Amino acid sequence: MSDAPRYLITAALPYANGPLHIGHLAGCYLPADIYARFCRIKRRNIILVGGSDEHGVPITIRAMKEGKTPKEIVDYYHALLKETFEEIGISFDIYSRTSNRTNHETAQEFFLNLYNKGLFEEKVTEQYYDEEKKIFLADRYITGTCPICGYENAYGDQCERCGSSLSPEQLINPRSTLSNAVPVKKKTKHWYFPLQKFEPFLRKWILEDHKDWKNNVYGQCKSWLDNGLQSRAMTRDSNWGVKVPLPDAEGKVLYVWFDAPIGYISATKELTAEWQDYWCKDDTKLIHFIGKDNIVFHCIIFPAILKAHGGYVLPTNVPANEFLNIESSKVSTSRNWAVWVKEYMKDFPDQQDSLRYVLCANMPETKDNDFTWKDFQDRVNNELVAILGNFVNRTFILMHKLTHGKVPPLHGNVATPEDQAMVNSFAETKSRMEEFLENFKFREALTEAMNLARRGNKYLQDKEPWILAKDVDEKGNVRQESQEKIDMCIHVCLQLCANLAIMIYPFMPFTAKKMLHMMKVVNRMLFWENAGKPKLLSIGYSLRAPELLFRKIEDSEIETQLKKLEAGLEKSKTDAARAAEETAAKEPEWKPVKDTISIDDFSKIDLRTGKILSAKKVEKADKLLQLEVDLGFEKRTILSGLAEHYKPEDIVGKKVVVVANLAPRKMRGIDSNGMILMAEDHEGKLFFVASGDDDSTGSVVR
Ligand code: 2FM
Ligand code: ZN
Repeated sequence: MSDAPRYLITAALPYANGPLHIGHLAGCYLPADIYARFCRIKRRNIILVGGSDEHGVPITIRAMKEGKTPKEIVDYYHALLKETFEEIGISFDIYSRTSNRTNHETAQEFFLNLYNKGLFEEKVTEQYYDEEKKIFLADRYITGTCPICGYENAYGDQCERCGSSLSPEQLINPRSTLSNAVPVKKKTKHWYFPLQKFEPFLRKWILEDHKDWKNNVYGQCKSWLDNGLQSRAMTRDSNWGVKVPLPDAEGKVLYVWFDAPIGYISATKELTAEWQDYWCKDDTKLIHFIGKDNIVFHCIIFPAILKAHGGYVLPTNVPANEFLNIESSKVSTSRNWAVWVKEYMKDFPDQQDSLRYVLCANMPETKDNDFTWKDFQDRVNNELVAILGNFVNRTFILMHKLTHGKVPPLHGNVATPEDQAMVNSFAETKSRMEEFLENFKFREALTEAMNLARRGNKYLQDKEPWILAKDVDEKGNVRQESQEKIDMCIHVCLQLCANLAIMIYPFMPFTAKKMLHMMKVVNRMLFWENAGKPKLLSIGYSLRAPELLFRKIEDSEIETQLKKLEAGLEKSKTDAARAAEETAAKEPEWKPVKDTISIDDFSKIDLRTGKILSAKKVEKADKLLQLEVDLGFEKRTILSGLAEHYKPEDIVGKKVVVVANLAPRKMRGIDSNGMILMAEDHEGKLFFVASGDDDSTGSVVR
């Protein structure tokens, strides 16, 4: 193994408060594993580091709700996650946990280092506190009546009905979602990290030096930087987490996003005494595989902390994926709309690679993608079984039947341009795959390997060795020329099998290993440098009988899975209904119709159609977009709580219905002149209410 450069690959640390679903896999674990396996067979010096993220408010709240301790929760889920990763073949060199002592010590050392440099701003603020549960409440855990639209279950940070961005102080009749108690204000001190001081460094490092990052990642970073960075509290009030290592910090812990990424460093320390070679030497390539919701933490906050500390490398790349939806709906663990990896393994034992294949083929590399069970069945049956499995199986059966179970010799005199073209395509495929793999384009790399298998099938079909085998002399022996052609064809197909085993290994390691076992070359063959070569298997070498690589998925299995999804959703609804009865703080599934109004009341509202001309984020308001809306007779500035639902660039040109005579309202120092109407689904997602065609802009809506 060469020493440098070192590849330090990380995969986001999953929260230890729930099982693993396929969205997690497609988002970051599968890409991290594919890349790590590719690096290993390239004989690179590489480690894949992971672990469970075991701190944070959601874990304490979950424990509280279940009447358990946070430790009981994380112990259970850490073990479950670790086992699931092993089962599905995510090849972590270490799978640690952030509650380990090493991480507490490392995170505290980081905090003190920054503290001693005088970097933190200490601020005392008043925050809501639940006296019954003895816990400070994040804004999300407070509900009350929206002062703007009167909706009774608005959150402390936003009203999901009218979209207004709120602070808990604005809520009328605020309540804690944990106990229903009225929260009280309490003073609390926290340590803030001044991200804005690192803005010049981040701008240069990302926007100038890392134009090579994926568009989604670069774009999100740019938008954060353009919106202006602000100080962020790096501590919380809690007893669960890494204690703030200061004398006057009783009951304070580090913010979970402070200690979690440091968990990557701690895990490396646990893995190897040479951890500094990976983290502190300039020629390390640090690559963070994450989902898109983690971009700001890995590209902005953690690098700023590393920079502030000094002595550590910064990420070379952060290839974040978008999200994987299930049957066209967003994964929702609370609604139980997910495909759980453990469940899959129970229902499809030994079929890890079928799932890995389908997830990779649909990987949300550049946009959100959809997983459907029908597509799973189609891809397994029509691609894995019919193309790859079929090719390898036929080759091995024919080899046992027609060439004595051995790799047959080559005969130059019968070689044709097709044979040569087939052999040439090994190296061509390899080089294209390599280019894609190096650039994190895993779907395309996998497609190349499958196309090669497809080509192998066609080659075998065209050569028809089973027909040649019928060309026998009077003694029943195959005539020499036909036997030579058979040998040629089987030889090429076997070499292709060996090539395919290496090429598919990063994606489907279980299948690759089975194939190499059939060829009796497991240990010596599995290196990327061997891919592309025409003579991997020696002439005369005897090979094993074929094993079943993939099995067909029946319609009934797909129906079972679809029913399971629906049943999970139903169960979550009944659970939710029960919970709603237990606590008055829950939102009803359908909003009650408001009091009847007269036609005169209604006619007071002036509804117009409009078109969004431009949209931009409002500084220091996570939820608001500032829109310029064309009403035909005039252009209006309207603020709307859309920022968490739509990107500004995605809504320009949209047609909307506008309440045109709503009294102007100032928000964040900007006058909002009207309100745009949106529809809200039961998950709080907002949709545009369609209006007429372009020419209808400014029309009255009645
Ligand atoms: O979003 C998440 O699931 C986080 N637990 C990811 C943490 S990644 C890292 F920084 F630890
Ligand atoms: Zn409201």
